[in-house]
Amino acid sequence: MQVTLRIRRFNPERDQKPYWGEYTLDKVEPNDRVLELLHRVKWEQDGTLTFRRSCAHGVCGSDGMRINGVNRLACKVLVSALGTGDHVKVQVEPMLGLPVIDRETRQLRFHTWYPGCPMEEDAYGIPKPKGTEVVVPTLLFVPCVGYGPNGYRLGYGGGFYDRTLATLQPQPNTVGLGYSNGWLPDFIAEPHDIPLHAILSDTGVVWQD
Ligand code: FES
Repeated sequence: MQVTLRIRRFNPERDQKPYWGEYTLDKVEPNDRVLELLHRVKWEQDGTLTFRRSCAHGVCGSDGMRINGVNRLACKVLVSALGTGDHVKVQVEPMLGLPVIDRETRQLRFHTWYPGCPMEEDAYGIPKPKGTEVVVPTLLFVPCVGYGPNGYRLGYGGGFYDRTLATLQPQPNTVGLGYSNGWLPDFIAEPHDIPLHAILSDTGVVWQD
């Protein structure tokens, strides 16, 4: 069978923003695993493709990725589980994560989240992922109480996002989420505030750098 892999790519040293790379592989067997397909893309078509893997046997968890919309281990997923017929489409992208406060550094860490993953209660009864892998985000949605000119945001007062953004490497693309009645035309940013790359409200895109 033939498989077209659509892979979310981003090299912060080279790319302005993430993009989709598309690769078609022939002579794929239904029992091939997605990890084998990624190796074939790297070895046969594009040596710049990079991804994490270690044991290749579903033990270490290092090749967790979002495959056709579901967080899974690439070394465990058979092509036959993703489609049948002569041509199968497979989409691969980074896993989703949720913020968790590190009480020592007062910064945020981002832990993998997937439907049904272990959760525990945090402050104000808000659930957070329990013991799942830490991921470095390439795209970050940031809640805004309000927002002002030039991508500056008013947060919830804890400074967690500003402290985190000041140290995250590589820097992710940041998208603020707020309501249009949070627009603060006279907002004056503090020296430590970091502007967002874009802001979305209920009326659409209200800021883009
Ligand atoms: S590479 Fe170790 S779990 Fe897949």
